[in-house]
Amino acid sequence: MASVRPYLAALLALFAFSMVTPPPPSAAAANVPITTCRSFCGNLTVDYPFALHAGCGHAGFRDLLFCINGALMLHLPSGSYRVLDIDYAYRGLTLHDPAMSDCRALDRSRAGRGNGFVVEPWRAPYLAPDPDNVFLLLGCRATSPLFQGFPDRHLPCRNVSGMGCGDYYDCPAWEDYGGRRPSGAAYGASVPPECCAVSWDAIRAVNVSRLECEGYSSAYSLAPVRAASGPRGWAYGIRVSWALPEANRGFCGACRATGGVCGHDVDGDSHGDLCLCGDWNSTSNCDSSADAALSNAATAAPRAIAALCWAVLASGFSIM
Ligand SMILES: *[C@@H]1O[C@H](CO)[C@@H](O)[C@H](O)[C@H]1NC(C)=O
Ligand SMILES: *[C@@H]1O[C@H](CO)[C@@H](O)[C@H](O)[C@H]1NC(C)=O
Ligand SMILES: *[C@@H]1O[C@H](CO)[C@@H](O)[C@H](O)[C@H]1NC(C)=O
Ligand SMILES: *[C@@H]1O[C@H](CO)[C@@H](O)[C@H](O)[C@H]1NC(C)=O
Repeated sequence: MASVRPYLAALLALFAFSMVTPPPPSAAAANVPITTCRSFCGNLTVDYPFALHAGCGHAGFRDLLFCINGALMLHLPSGSYRVLDIDYAYRGLTLHDPAMSDCRALDRSRAGRGNGFVVEPWRAPYLAPDPDNVFLLLGCRATSPLFQGFPDRHLPCRNVSGMGCGDYYDCPAWEDYGGRRPSGAAYGASVPPECCAVSWDAIRAVNVSRLECEGYSSAYSLAPVRAASGPRGWAYGIRVSWALPEANRGFCGACRATGGVCGHDVDGDSHGDLCLCGDWNSTSNCDSSADAALSNAATAAPRAIAALCWAVLASGFSIM
């Protein structure tokens, strides 16, 4: 009987091991709850590519949104903005900067007022103000970088999507401002205009203090609705568009189709796409075993050891 014991133990161990070895991943598509990464802040839904949890969302939008007392805030090097709306269908964010001028009131100071808009260089491919968003720079000095390189007064100032300073001067805000309302014709004068309207593409960074301005306003029009009602009817705020790399669409589609939730790597420097499959992560989707090997091996090892102990115990009991 004693000579059979090792064989029996080995057989039992093999049997036990086969019982606990995870089935091939293809037979077990994940079913990760969508709420793993979707969250709410106030009445806004925060969902891919945005997220409030580390590792969720696309890496281009990491460390960007924060929910503070029910207000969704967007943090950039230039400052914090309240997120008023996330339009997932049109890939647009509507931001509010409390220190920004609008049609009712100008907010200006010598040192510059308001955040402006400056994006980290690494984030720039993913997030930028909409082409239909106009930045109205107020009280910029003649020495401003804005007016350099334009010796013939071909100032960069222009209308953007039908919105410009000429109309903005009609706002009530200007009536109170020093009792004078600039005229749109100020462009030709030897002093810089009180207001200079630019698109994001023209300057790529709205740093109010670097541009030596006293403040700014920002307005947007949502195509095809045109700002027909004048500056009182403009929507004040910053309209931002977001973009994802083309390859991400396929990745995320496959990840979701296999029951996973799209996220990104928080451990590596690459911040690459990750499909969150429940108790493991995949660099492709929850049906693929190739890159699952690592995490599966890690979780399978303790189970195999447990199985072996059980087998040895069982074989021991069987000869008693
Ligand atoms: C969300 O709540 C704000 C007030 O907190 C309100 O102005 C806005 O219209 C609401 N948005 C939606 C989509 O319900
Ligand atoms: C999967 O990735 C997410 C985000 O990077 C991370 O938080 C989580 O710990 C990972 N899970 C596993 C099992 O490695
Ligand atoms: C804006 O410009 C000022 C002055 O050049 C600089 O100190 C500051 O770091 C800039 N801010 C951002 C967010 O780039
Ligand atoms: C900007 O728009 C105003 C009002 O529509 C118009 O009067 C003005 O000529 C436009 N300026 C330029 C440079 O197109």
